[in-house]
Amino acid sequence: MQRAREDRVPFHVAIIMDGNGRWGLGQSLTRSDGHRAGVEALRRTVEAAPGLGVTTLTVFAFSCDNWRRPAAEVATLMELLAAYLARDGQRLVAEGVRLVMLGRRDRLPAGLAAEVAAFEAMSAEGGRMTLRIAFDYSSRAAIAAAARALGPDATLEELDRLIAGPGGSPVDLLIRTGAEKRLSDFLLWECAYAELWFTERLWPQFAPADLEAAVGDFHLRERRFGAIPATAAPRAAA
Ligand code: FPP
Repeated sequence: MQRAREDRVPFHVAIIMDGNGRWGLGQSLTRSDGHRAGVEALRRTVEAAPGLGVTTLTVFAFSCDNWRRPAAEVATLMELLAAYLARDGQRLVAEGVRLVMLGRRDRLPAGLAAEVAAFEAMSAEGGRMTLRIAFDYSSRAAIAAAARALGPDATLEELDRLIAGPGGSPVDLLIRTGAEKRLSDFLLWECAYAELWFTERLWPQFAPADLEAAVGDFHLRERRFGAIPATAAPRAAA
């Protein structure tokens, strides 16, 4: 498998896992079945990512706007997060994956918030890859909170740090499945210079070969960060 080139490390990939509902309905199942299949796709992706040089993987599992969905679908997504931690948490820790949750904690079921905190603590030393799960997350809310906390004299560097949160960094590659081409309030600040990769595949259909294709495409792109080719390099925030 292809590895990230030395100059690509750290390599932050972010994924908008879209299309679960359509996949479920297309299989004559329910939208919630689609989310369940989505967890399997997440599991495959997390397993494949370190071998492709990914050092940080941030996935969008539940947005603050997803509360507008039917209560039963919301409940399924909460249950799936709890089940994912229960089933995969220990193994991820053993494999050196650091787990970080982004987003609000105060609207999670109490037991789930505690589970999340426990796995974050247990996995804090994990050096193989950081898996960040955005859940009850809004990028605009994260940016607004950082701006409020830092005040009008905040430097871009300070904002970078506070908005990105634990284990965060600028996104190198943003993947969105499900044929839509929008950011949906996900990592808006961190994606300032992200390369974007879209696929018509629905998230439950996403396979390691698709991740490999996206990463391969990323390595072919010329990143200029606003400069001309010969001098381009990521710029420290002013
Ligand atoms: C978007 O598809 C997907 C979501 C809102 C949830 C994503 C969640 C998972 C992949 C599984 C949950 C994983 C964990 C660890 C909790 P959609 O439902 O909007 O699809 P549609 O566009 O076809 O309706």
